[in-house]
Amino acid sequence: MNLLETKGIYKIYSKGEIALNNINFRLEDKEFVAVMGPSGSGKSTLLNICCGMIKPSVGSIILNEKEDIVKYNDEKLNIYRRSNLGCVFQDFKLLDYLNIQDNIILPLTLEKVNIKEINRRLKWLVEYLNIEDLLKKKIFEVSGGEKQRVAIARALIINPQILFADEPTGSLDFKSSQDVMKLFSNINKKNGTTIFMVTHDPYVASFADRVLFLRDGVIYNEVYRGDNKGLFYKEILDVLSFLGGRDYEF
Ligand SMILES: Nc1ncnc2c1ncn2[C@@H]1O[C@H](COP(=O)(O)OP(=O)(O)OP(=O)(O)O)[C@@H](O)[C@H]1O
Ligand SMILES: [Mg+2]
Repeated sequence: MNLLETKGIYKIYSKGEIALNNINFRLEDKEFVAVMGPSGSGKSTLLNICCGMIKPSVGSIILNEKEDIVKYNDEKLNIYRRSNLGCVFQDFKLLDYLNIQDNIILPLTLEKVNIKEINRRLKWLVEYLNIEDLLKKKIFEVSGGEKQRVAIARALIINPQILFADEPTGSLDFKSSQDVMKLFSNINKKNGTTIFMVTHDPYVASFADRVLFLRDGVIYNEVYRGDNKGLFYKEILDVLSFLGGRDYEF
């Protein structure tokens, strides 16, 4: 089943530049999709539109083959997002006036989930992401990589139906990136969480079932994983070398 389908999405920002130019794709239930492409190709714009953070200029985003979230009013959209979507933004969007723990549990506090359940989920995630020692700190007291892992914990704590993650390993070293990708694979396979992830890193993308490549606001290509992860990784590198752009000179 299509969990999410974009139909004829365009995004034109105020200066008149076309950031997305007729994007049509389907995200299947339980699928893990990565999006790659040069800087400025529209990856974050696409992710932010799909998770309801910004509106497209034209086009629809159909959920469960029924509802168009572009037509939702703000209140309906917020309610939907809060209980179904986990989002890791490129700039994290953590709240400076809350400590780390309160940032992570905020979506559950807003939903009035009981404290025992909150603590159970918190404990599991902070152990997995290795951020136990940070919980009482303020946002300005932690590093970029630590903020990234906090943002991931906040997105996952609601057990989202869809996880949207924009460069979730962009500030992490190799070992932490690998841990985060194992966590994503796990929640995808065991919980059936659908994942839509933007990344510059071909190794990180190779954990997905499918990679979409954007160039100048259009879908330029897509590659499916199949059975052989090594081959998939090589195919990703091949497409990237054709894509060009300063990010992908090997
Ligand atoms: N809020 C905004 N206002 C105006 N233009 C914007 C805005 N956000 C993005 N753009 C423009 O839209 C285009 C696509 O930007 P986007 O952030 O989606 O790219 P990206 O692929 O995520 O790049 P990166 O890899 O650097 O994160 C760029 O030309 C960018 O300058
Ligand atoms: Mg971006």
